[in-house]
Amino acid sequence: MSSAPLPANSNNLDAFWMPFTANRAFKANPRMLVKAEGMHYTNQEGRQILDATAGLWCVNAGHGRQKIVEAVQKQVKELDYAPSFQWGHPKAFELAARLVAMTPGDLNHVFYTNSGSEAVDTALKIALAYHRARGEGTRTRLIGRERGYHGVGFGGISVGGMVANRKWFGTALPGVDHLPHTHSLKDMAFSKDQPSWGAHLAEDLERLVALHDASNIAAVIVEPVAGSTGGLVPPVGYLKRLREICDKHGILLIFDEVITGFGRLGSAFASEKFDVIPDMMTIAKGVTNATVPMGGVIARKGIYDTFMNAPENTIELFHGYTYSAHPLAAAAGLATLDVYKEEGLFQRAAELTPYLQEAVHSLKGTPSVIDIRNIGMIGAVEMESRPGKPGTRAYDVFLKAYEAGIMFRTTGETVTISPPLIVEKGQIDQMIDTLGKCIKAAA
Ligand SMILES: Cc1ncc(COP(=O)(O)O)c(C=O)c1O
Repeated sequence: MSSAPLPANSNNLDAFWMPFTANRAFKANPRMLVKAEGMHYTNQEGRQILDATAGLWCVNAGHGRQKIVEAVQKQVKELDYAPSFQWGHPKAFELAARLVAMTPGDLNHVFYTNSGSEAVDTALKIALAYHRARGEGTRTRLIGRERGYHGVGFGGISVGGMVANRKWFGTALPGVDHLPHTHSLKDMAFSKDQPSWGAHLAEDLERLVALHDASNIAAVIVEPVAGSTGGLVPPVGYLKRLREICDKHGILLIFDEVITGFGRLGSAFASEKFDVIPDMMTIAKGVTNATVPMGGVIARKGIYDTFMNAPENTIELFHGYTYSAHPLAAAAGLATLDVYKEEGLFQRAAELTPYLQEAVHSLKGTPSVIDIRNIGMIGAVEMESRPGKPGTRAYDVFLKAYEAGIMFRTTGETVTISPPLIVEKGQIDQMIDTLGKCIKAAA
C-alpha cells in the first residue's frame, strides 16, 4: 500500500468512502456539486441542477438562505461552542421553547441530538428509561415496522425494516418486533393522498401484545409517512388506531418526524396533519434547513416529569452528545424557524399540494409505472423492475434526470420527489416532464 502524500488539491477521489453510494460508479463518473442557491445546485461543470428532493428531504426553505447564513456567521464569531453537559447557552433554550410552541398537545421538552439517527436511538433509550423510572422495568421490547427507516444507529436499524440496512450487521438489538408495512399495490395503487384501505393493519399490534404481554413492551416507533422506502402514505385511520392500542396497553408511541416535520406535509408536523399526538417525536433535517446538523427528540410532559423526581442535584438522564445544542445549529434553527414563519412556507406547501398531486399522477399510464403515491409535498413514482435486475431502472432514470438537470432520489424502483417548499409550479412541471421522459427512455 503506498503512503505517498497526495497533493493538497488532488483530484483523487479514493480517500472518501462515500455513504449510501455506489462508490466505484460515482468515482468513475462523479456528480460533484459546488454551489447552491434557491431551488438549484450548480455542478462542477457549471450546470444548474434543479433540486427536486430538497437535498435529502432537508432543505425545506431552499438553498443559501441569507438570513440563516448570516445567523450562522454571526454565531461562529460570538460563541463557537459551548458544552451542554452542566452548561447552557441562551439560544438552545430559545430554540427549544420555539419548537415546543409548534408541536401539538403537551410535547413540551426537547432533547437535542445531531442527526435523525441519534434522535431515534435517543427516543428508544428514553422509552426504556422512562418505564424503568416508573417501576415498569420489564417493558423493554421495541416495536418498529417493516419498510421503516429510522437511520443507521443500532437502535434505528433494529426497529427499521429495510433489509439491506440490516442484513450485514449481525443481530442488532434483541427483543424487537415489526408491524407489517402498510403498502399494497393490489389494494391501493394510484391512490391520491391517504389510501382508504389498510387501517386494519394496525391491529397487528394487538397480536404482538397477546404474544409478549404489554408488561414487556416499551414503545412502538413508526414514520407517519415512510419516506426512505418510497413515500408510503398511512391508510386513513391507521395512525389513530395505533394510538388507541398503545394507550390501551401503556405502550409509548414514537413518531419519527425526521422527514415529515417542518412543513413537508403542509403542516408543522405530521402529528398535526393526522391529528394524532405521539408520546415522543424525533426531528432533524428541516429544523436547521440542513445548514448545520441538528436533530432532537420532543417528549411529552409526563415523560420529562417522570425523570424529574430524583434529588435535584442528580443527573436525571445519562445520555447526551458533545454537540447536543451546538450554538451554530441553534442559531441556524432559530433563523430557519423565522424563515418558515415569515414566508408562510408550511401554508405554501399545503396550497401547492393539489398541484403536485395532479402533476405526479399525470404520469399514470407511462410504460413501466405501476404505482403513483403522494401526500403533502411528497410524490413517488414506482416502476416495474426489469426481469432479474431490481433497482436498475430507477437508477437509470436517476442518471438520465441528472443529465437533464434534475436531482431526484430513488429507492428500489421508486423515484421520489420532495422539493423545497419554495418550489414554483413551473418547476414542478419541469420535474414531472423530465421524469416522464426519463422513465420512457429507461424502458
Ligand atoms: C424517518 C427518518 N428517520 C431517521 C433518519 C436518519 O437521519 P440522519 O440521516 O440525519 O441520521 C432519516 C433520514 O433520512 C429518516 O428519513
